[in-house]
Amino acid sequence: EKGHLWGGRFGSGPAEAFERLNASIPFDVRLAPYDVRGSIAHARMLGETGIISREEAEALVGGLESVLEEVEAGEFSWSLADEDVHTAVERRLREKVGDVALKLHTGRSRNDQVSLDLHLFCRDAAERIGEGLLEAMAALVEVAERHSDLVLPGYTHLQRAQPLLLSHHLLAHFWAFARDLGRLDAAREAANVSPLGAAALGGTPHPVDPALVAAELGMEPFANSLDAVSERDFALDLLYACAVLGVHLSRLGEEWVLWTSQEFGFAELDDAYSSGSSIMPQKKNPDAYELMRGRAGRLIGDLSALMVTLKGLPLGYSKDLQEDKEPLFDAVDGVLAVLAVLPGMLRTARFCGERMEGAAGGFALATELADFLAARGVPFREAHRVVGRLVRRCEELGVSLEEVPRAELAAAHPALGELPEGLLRPRGSVANKRSPGSTSPASVEEQLRRARELLLAR
Ligand code: ARG
Repeated sequence: EKGHLWGGRFGSGPAEAFERLNASIPFDVRLAPYDVRGSIAHARMLGETGIISREEAEALVGGLESVLEEVEAGEFSWSLADEDVHTAVERRLREKVGDVALKLHTGRSRNDQVSLDLHLFCRDAAERIGEGLLEAMAALVEVAERHSDLVLPGYTHLQRAQPLLLSHHLLAHFWAFARDLGRLDAAREAANVSPLGAAALGGTPHPVDPALVAAELGMEPFANSLDAVSERDFALDLLYACAVLGVHLSRLGEEWVLWTSQEFGFAELDDAYSSGSSIMPQKKNPDAYELMRGRAGRLIGDLSALMVTLKGLPLGYSKDLQEDKEPLFDAVDGVLAVLAVLPGMLRTARFCGERMEGAAGGFALATELADFLAARGVPFREAHRVVGRLVRRCEELGVSLEEVPRAELAAAHPALGELPEGLLRPRGSVANKRSPGSTSPASVEEQLRRARELLLAR
């Protein structure tokens, strides 16, 4: 029987190739700490409800605690014949406490058990990713504060649009991450439901107490046993949170790839976060940001892998559900690996303020002129046309907006003759913004205050 949990009905063991396909132990062994904790809660409940004796429950809990120690010490060993982590833990428990181990699975199925393990994993993962993300958010705030005087061009269509404070730009990523934090919190909540007590799919004749098990694990109990063993929404929620976070990280990464190019020259990464070329000695490549951008593809793939796996399944457990684990692990590991690098990479980067400010002037100030005219009663459409013509005139003269002679300004529109000097500078433009949430220094100051508050409240 080679120790299979279901061996009783079978005349022969599995073919080797099938055993390899069927086994999840090579990847689900990382669920061992959750599996054991779930089993401890289950064993206690069995004892308290009198389904097994108190002595039996104590023996099981003691044995499981020592299995947990082995797991935590990295000494837990498994073989392919264990099939999955649940079998491996039960096998080890029996080696430790003897035949009383055979009572642990009373009123339980691997179907509710594996779902519980995964719930516990997701709850933990959502917290760990949230912590990593908070670190990155703190780094963004720090760097924004440190460089509150720098301006750079904002882009639309990747064409220079209007000057922005660098801190405003960095905080734009902060607020996206703040929403990711909300999605991670929601994923944690969704994972905080215990399916234990659903048994195979329809419940059990034993007087189990799902609420007791759930409370022991700090969770809510399930409502419907069939739903409890069938659904993986909580895993989808976490995968979705990871995928959206991945998209945000990717967009930030893409910007840094641009910023650190010689063409932009806005920033330089610390050597510790760059790599070189095996043939071109001069190269300093932003690999980490490229990997961050690349990883988003995998995260989106992980989400769609599980969605597609689930969509055709009838309710009840199907072995397809075993395929839920690898995409989930891949996404969690992938996001954590990127988040481990990002804060240090942000904190150690250097900005080339002159390059950024140089690029933020010129025609990127055109909207400022149009708004100046509109504020003096010129209808905005008319003002837009006046400044458009002025831009064309500057191109003919081969000068930038900052250099255009006063006479040309006045010729474009009399009111432009009174244009304050400062408005034709990136910093002046930024300082001239009035609207809430804008790139004005006052708005950015207020954003920083709220950002610090958010970080402190966590
Ligand atoms: N290894 C299985 C999984 O990952 C555990 C559940 C097995 N249940 C079953 N009825 N075969 O999904």
